[in-house]
Amino acid sequence: MERRIKIFDTSLRDGEQAPGCSMNLHSKVAVAEILQELGVDVIEAGFPVCSAGDFRAVQTIAHCVNGPVVAALARASTRDIDAAVEALLPARAPRVHVFLATSPIHMKYKLRKSPEDVLSQAVEMVSYARSLCPDIEFSLEDASRSDLDFIYRVIESVIDAGASTVNIPDTVGYAVPEEYAALVRNIKNSVPNIDKACLSVHCHNDLGMAVANSLAAAAAGADQVECSVNGIGERAGNTALEEFVMNLHVRRDYYKMKTGIDISKIYQASKIVSKASGVRCQPNKAVVGENAFAHEAGIHQHGVMSNPCTYEIMTPQSIGIPDSTLNKMVLGKHSGRHAFEERLSYLGINYEDSPEILDHLFEEFKKLADKKKTVSDRDIEALVAGRNGEIPQAYVLDRFVINSGSSITSTSVVRLKVADGSFVEKVAIGDGPIDASLNAVDKIIGGEEIKLEDFSLQVVDAVDTGTDAQGECLMRVTRGGRTWNGSGVSTDIVESGIKAYLSAINAMVYELACEREAEKIREAEKNG
Ligand code: KIV
Ligand code: ZN
Repeated sequence: MERRIKIFDTSLRDGEQAPGCSMNLHSKVAVAEILQELGVDVIEAGFPVCSAGDFRAVQTIAHCVNGPVVAALARASTRDIDAAVEALLPARAPRVHVFLATSPIHMKYKLRKSPEDVLSQAVEMVSYARSLCPDIEFSLEDASRSDLDFIYRVIESVIDAGASTVNIPDTVGYAVPEEYAALVRNIKNSVPNIDKACLSVHCHNDLGMAVANSLAAAAAGADQVECSVNGIGERAGNTALEEFVMNLHVRRDYYKMKTGIDISKIYQASKIVSKASGVRCQPNKAVVGENAFAHEAGIHQHGVMSNPCTYEIMTPQSIGIPDSTLNKMVLGKHSGRHAFEERLSYLGINYEDSPEILDHLFEEFKKLADKKKTVSDRDIEALVAGRNGEIPQAYVLDRFVINSGSSITSTSVVRLKVADGSFVEKVAIGDGPIDASLNAVDKIIGGEEIKLEDFSLQVVDAVDTGTDAQGECLMRVTRGGRTWNGSGVSTDIVESGIKAYLSAINAMVYELACEREAEKIREAEKNG
């Protein structure tokens, strides 16, 4: 009999907390939606006390999600717990996740508290949280570097106080698989009431051991594994969901454990999280990296063609990567709407109920097909990914002209269509054609305070290296300490840069407008 392991996803909390991974509200909702489709058991939506943005994100996700438990993080204080409880009010299945450090180094230097004080604070705050919410998780931060007897006492006491899940994080990625597994076994054997709670593990990847430690802990009896899509998270990240899940799936003969994850959604989830966080996976990343299924060596290619099992332990199709070889029909400028829609549905992209989105995508496809001889599946996926969802387009690129070279200062003339339908055109100079173009955009939108934090450009289809290949640009901008990500796709790299910049700006304009609107409603309610 296979044991079922619960998957607690923290892409939106530990993942989003990582430097350079912050996501805007719309992207967070898109991530929550794919996590729900993926079938995770718990979505940790954020840390509400941290900022108004985090609070609103948890509240919005709590409202949208139907199925998985929605968790919100709180330090062991009434202020944090109150914020978490309030943000979770719309949730059908809310969980407050309280944490407090238990290692000697954290208690002495960070908390400046004795172990006895930490124990009573943990108990007091778990009972307080339990009086407000039926589902409480307690995390013993830095558990893997804590004293064993102290851990047993804390776990027993917080379960008595009402915690239904107890998590023993390897907060600094210090554990060794055998040692971490022993910790799980010791807790199972030594804490008298452990059968009344779900035992969870949460690993960091500082030494590249997060997945190995999580697998060892699950095999030793842990009931829940905390992870994130693409492994995003503090420092070197968390346990990568796709790697943990595919290990259990591919080696079910060995592990005899299963999860509720629909593995055919893994590829899509990875793409959505990359786009939302603005962080691409390294090409050789296990399971979802660009090269994870690429066979370069002739001897491997020959083997895979004769029988994929020679060098492939899982198929790309099993995680949702469409098999282009199954669909030989080439799409190009003569392809009609019917062929395009068929290819979309073959790629698992379903907009049947949204004709206006289909119209828009078909228009973009036609423009692309005019520039490229053939349009690949990756091109189509990039078009869909480059669509900026429900975010209204305050600024749309109409046209641009650049003048650039090695011995002249680059200039760019950019014309944008603005929200009222009019066109505004500006010229600017810059350090290269993209810089000049973004400066021209800044002049139009008054974007002097906007800073470009990160910029990356990639060819969409690794096999399509011809001159008409598409470039996909991811960009991160900040203003007033807040971050927005954008993406843009085009056969022209300057155009993909301008589009990515505008997509981040449009996300920013929309989010700030929503916040102003919400503020107005709150004010009106206050004033009766
Ligand atoms: O790594 C950690 O200890 C955490 C806790 C808050 C669960 O992220
Ligand atoms: Zn963590």
